[in-house]
Amino acid sequence: MSSTRPRTSLAGASVTEALDTATERLAAAGCADARVDAELLLGHVLEASRAGLYAESRRVLTAAEAGELEALLDRRARREPLAYVLGEWGFRRLVLAVDGRVLVPRQETEVVVERCLALLAGTGAPRVLDVGTGSGAIALAIADEHPGARVTGVEASPAALDVARENAARTGLDADFLAADLHRGLPGASWDLVVSNPPYVSADEIEALEPEVREWEPRPALVGEGATEAVARSAFDVLRAGGWLVLEVGNGEAARVAALLSGVGFEQVSVTRDLAGRERVVEGTRP
Ligand SMILES: C[S@@+](CC[C@H](N)C(=O)[O-])C[C@H]1O[C@@H](n2cnc3c(N)ncnc32)[C@H](O)[C@@H]1O
Repeated sequence: MSSTRPRTSLAGASVTEALDTATERLAAAGCADARVDAELLLGHVLEASRAGLYAESRRVLTAAEAGELEALLDRRARREPLAYVLGEWGFRRLVLAVDGRVLVPRQETEVVVERCLALLAGTGAPRVLDVGTGSGAIALAIADEHPGARVTGVEASPAALDVARENAARTGLDADFLAADLHRGLPGASWDLVVSNPPYVSADEIEALEPEVREWEPRPALVGEGATEAVARSAFDVLRAGGWLVLEVGNGEAARVAALLSGVGFEQVSVTRDLAGRERVVEGTRP
């Protein structure tokens, strides 16, 4: 850490000075993790890890590097999600391209994938359907971590589908991505597993969320009246007997969704908590 006052301009700044200035700017803009964001943005510009920045703390930024960092900081200071500013985001073992066309894949969704992998363990070439695939995060993580799985992602947004396909090409993973509206039934039949992180934020809740979510992420990825119910009912029709449905649910929604699954006819309904201890995933099997 520097003991000097942060600079107002990044021209001619050392790595240490640039980090201090960037941190101060982002903190003033209300970014919760200003120092970490500053490190990741400068690391992006210099193609260095966070540890690598500290190893080169006295290195002076070139004019081009300073200009690039200024542009990224301006975007982040407007509360654009860090993932969009960086243009990529880690999800399980993958680094996926993300921008304003798709929801930023969340850490809690990694638990959804964990449950899918556990239910698929020991199966050779299971057929898996990911509903509302967005960036393709869930579909591609399953394809990556259960080699042999034949994964299809469906999505209503053509722009999101483009991102999912870009991510399949970027990761070299094999998955099909199709346009479909989850309110019109699900495609195919005899799936071994249907998974979905459907839009589950209520219209009332949205205004209380951080600007990164409220003002930047695609509204249809967040708010989708009746989406969870529609996926639960349609999944029952397209799963094989013994196949599984795995759903991500909002805070405080697990008991309601578990009752919904039981009401639809699913059995062995259970709830899994995320790393923060919140009930996040509801699953059940079609008898
Ligand atoms: C919460 S996001 C999940 C994205 C991704 N699966 C993930 O976990 O990061 C919900 C996704 O469902 C899509 N979606 C919303 N309404 C839909 C509908 N009626 N039919 C199909 N997909 C829909 C959104 O475009 C968005 O990509």
